Amino acid sequence: MTTLITGGTGKTGSRLAKLLHAAGHPFILASRSGTAPAPLSSNLGVKFDWADPSTFQNPFSFVSGGETKIDRVYLIAPTAVLDSLPLVQPFVDLAVAKGVKRFVLLTATLSESGGPGLGKLHEYVAGLRGGVEYTVLRPTWFIENFGTLYAHSIREKDEIFSVMKSGKLPLVSADDIAKAAFDALFAEQSPNTDYYLVGPELFSYDEVAALFTEVLGRKITHKHLTDEEEQALYQSFGLPKEYAAMLTAGEALVASGSEERCVGTSKTITGTHTLRQFVEANKQIWTKS
Ligand SMILES: NC(=O)c1ccc[n+]([C@@H]2O[C@H](COP(=O)([O-])OP(=O)(O)OC[C@H]3O[C@@H](n4cnc5c(N)ncnc54)[C@H](OP(=O)(O)O)[C@@H]3O)[C@@H](O)[C@H]2O)c1
Repeated sequence: MTTLITGGTGKTGSRLAKLLHAAGHPFILASRSGTAPAPLSSNLGVKFDWADPSTFQNPFSFVSGGETKIDRVYLIAPTAVLDSLPLVQPFVDLAVAKGVKRFVLLTATLSESGGPGLGKLHEYVAGLRGGVEYTVLRPTWFIENFGTLYAHSIREKDEIFSVMKSGKLPLVSADDIAKAAFDALFAEQSPNTDYYLVGPELFSYDEVAALFTEVLGRKITHKHLTDEEEQALYQSFGLPKEYAAMLTAGEALVASGSEERCVGTSKTITGTHTLRQFVEANKQIWTKS
């Protein structure tokens, strides 16, 4: 039996692929590029685009010539859309018709079942019948954002930016998310519930800036933006206006303790990887050009 990893070239999907590879579980990776990140064999990648339903069949055609059939799916929904359900539901329905029996869906701490963003998709996957199992993983903000979203501003302006004020968040590593996804995919009994995913330490962005200052050996500051400034910044990165507003509103909730509340609950999985480990291991990302 084969696992399909959507978003297979992304931060969590690529790490999950390495865990499956190490454990000897068959898998394929779906993404628009249809590639598989090194050192995985390039023929594990399949072209797949949420914006093009004619590609939804591709993973199933890809496997049908081999010995195995897809029975599990790691689901990364399209980003920058306000409601992903209309785009993803036809694929989920096709997957169930093709014999998929377990889904592991990645959403976010702030994404409540039935709510906006990924919430409607959460509700749909949890409501599937016919013995279809599921887990919804709801991570807080990723540690790896400092190597993507904030990479340029740290490198070129010595700053990170946010509307979080002094709110704290338990930054989580994509490695810990991939491990939780692996466990949910292969647990003998599927959890059939949702979990918060958090890291081992709480940080305000002022504290993140202090850690970068110490490890990089130059002053990094936390620039406090207004909601309007941040929305405009996200739009300048190419995000649609409404989506930029939703991201900013979510970030603003950190200031009132939204992420601290996810620590240590009965539905929290706590990872082990730390921000310091990530910064020390990836200093080259923030080296000035
Ligand atoms: N970053 C955070 O702090 C944070 C926090 C909580 C939750 N999340 C959630 O995490 C998810 C992102 O996961 P990630 O970080 O592992 O992914 P990622 O690194 O953002 O990569 C996205 C993946 O999806 C693929 N992709 C992008 N557009 C696609 C499309 N139209 N059709 C098919 N595939 C597409 C990309 O490959 P191609 O470009 O080749 O298609 C890539 O493999 C999102 O749902 C986000 O809401 C993020």
